[in-house]
Order: sequence, then structure tokens, then C-alpha cells
Amino acid sequence: MESQAISTATVLVNAPLLYKGKVRELYDWGEHYLIVVTDRISAFDYVLEPAVPDKGSVLNRLSAHWFSLTGDLINNHVVHADLDLLGDMVKPEYKHLLQDRIMVARRADRIPVECVVRGYVTGGGWRQYVKTGEINGKKLPAGLRKNARLPEPIFTPSAKNDVGHDEDISFERMTELVGTELAEQLCTRSIELYEFARQYCDQRGIILADCKLEFGLVEGELILIDEIFTPDAARFWAKENYVLDMDIESMDKEPVRTYLAGSGWDKNSKPSPLPPSIVEETARRYREIFYRLTGQRLTEDY
Ligand SMILES: Nc1ncnc2c1ncn2[C@@H]1O[C@H](COP(=O)(O)OP(=O)(O)OP(=O)(O)O)[C@@H](O)[C@H]1O
Ligand SMILES: [Mg+2]
Repeated sequence: MESQAISTATVLVNAPLLYKGKVRELYDWGEHYLIVVTDRISAFDYVLEPAVPDKGSVLNRLSAHWFSLTGDLINNHVVHADLDLLGDMVKPEYKHLLQDRIMVARRADRIPVECVVRGYVTGGGWRQYVKTGEINGKKLPAGLRKNARLPEPIFTPSAKNDVGHDEDISFERMTELVGTELAEQLCTRSIELYEFARQYCDQRGIILADCKLEFGLVEGELILIDEIFTPDAARFWAKENYVLDMDIESMDKEPVRTYLAGSGWDKNSKPSPLPPSIVEETARRYREIFYRLTGQRLTEDY
């Protein structure tokens, strides 16, 4: 059975919408947030049409899986992800649409820096390295090849801008933004988490090339928030596809990016709707990485 894609939950939930991101919606849940992960997909900072069936469930279930695995390393924002505990705050006729897509989370003061860890030199990091021999101001050994594993994972933060793109920043700039002590803590924690996830992925035939983590403060305690080690927040490569020097297909929205790049789109206005074949192939990739990382099928059919 084909799943229905959910592009917003505003009519499904009896609670005020506080924040609508490109993918997630945060509802007022008393002292907590109710986070609904929709099936919306974005690329190059645009939300695209149509939504991708099951994408929200993959992101939410995979995040829940990782939050539970990393709970000993650092606390996180999860209160629970149990739809039944929402009671009549969800309209009964819509309940099935929210299955696997909700998380009740602690409200945090978001730290305005995306904590990026790279274990491999690829993507935007590779482009910086070719030009300057550095990534975010960090000098790297000469002669690295595209997609090479770095001797040590590196921390390459970016500043969260309210409008427009996030901006790569140096570690020094980060210390100006959040203070030296917190910057150092974030760097250490991020690399620890990356190392943990890299090993976990490695045992499942997946290379975790890089990832983006978000942290927040709750009553002075540093916790992980948002999503973690999902295809929207990490770059996964199947080991069997790993090569040096060439482009490697990542297990995420790559079909969408490739399609847009070849479609003549100017990147200055909302692109026209994605063809069904691209949507289906993207959905397949999200389900595939979920299965490879958790060993669970998302639905009986996949
Ligand atoms: N527990 C939390 N406390 C506070 N903010 C949170 C929490 N969990 C997630 N967020 C924030 O909620 C938003 C989730 O929405 P989404 O990921 O769709 O946004 P986005 O389009 O990536 O936008 P942004 O540029 O704000 O990240 C993010 O801004 C994230 O930082
Ligand atoms: Mg986000």
C-alpha cells in the first residue's frame, strides 16, 4: 500500500503551532514541544513539492533510535515518542497520519551553531580544501584525494543564520559567538558522538562521511536537540559504493539534487514540482538507509 505523504500537521493536532521549519513543526505542548516531522523535503534552502512518502517517519524513527543509543554519552531532548500518550490532543480520525512522526521534546535554548563533524574530505569541505588547503580555517595535510578518510575527524561548525544560508565559521569565530568553554565542550562532544556513530554504521556496511548536530541548553544543562544521524543531517555512503576521486552517491536526497541540477533551474525561485519517479526513488533511499541502520522495515511492504 502506498503511504500518504504529510506536508503539514496543522489540521491534525489540537495545539498552537509555534514554529514551522523546512521539515519539522513545533507545537506548544505546555512545558514541552510537540515536534511533528513532516514529509517535506528541501534542497538548496527551498521546500519542494510534492512531499516524499514516509520521509518524516524515517527521520523521526531513526532519530529516536540514535537518541536512545547515545543516551549514555549525552542527554537529549526526548521526553517520549508515543502517539497514544497524546490522547485527545490528536483528532482520532487523523491519528494514523501521525504514526511514527511525533516526538514530545524538552524546550531548549538553541545554541546558534550547527556542529558539523567530518571524517572524510568531500562535498563543500572538499571544495574548500582544493582552493585553500584548509576546511573552515583548519589546515589539512597536503595531497588528500577527494573522499579520502581524514587522519582524525575534524570539527567544522557553521553559524545558524535566521535568513538565508548557514555560514561556515572558524573555531575562533565560534568561541566569539558562544564562549570558549562551551565551544570546546561542543567540539569534544560532537567528535565523540561522530566516532560512536561511525563505528555503529561501519558494522552495518555504511560509511558515515560527515554529520551535523544541534545542541541546546535546558536549565544550564547541555543536551542534544533536533534530529541526529538521519539522512537529512548526515552523509551516508554504502561501503560498496566507496571510491576515491569520483562522486559517490549518498543515501539521501541525492536524486532530487541531481534532478534539479539537470533541470535548468536557476536556484533563485521555487522549482517546479518533482516528477513522480524522482519522489519514489528518494523515498526508496530513505527507507533503505533506515533498514540498513536499524534492521527494521518501516512498514510491512518495505
Ligand atoms: N528541543 C528543541 N528545543 C528548541 N529548538 C528545537 C528543539 N528541537 C529542534 N529545534 C529547532 O526546531 C527546528 C526544527 O525545524 P526544521 O529542522 O524543519 O528547521 P530548519 O528548516 O532546518 O530550520 P532552521 O534553519 O531553523 O534549522 C530547528 O530550528 C531546530 O533547531
Ligand atoms: Mg533542521
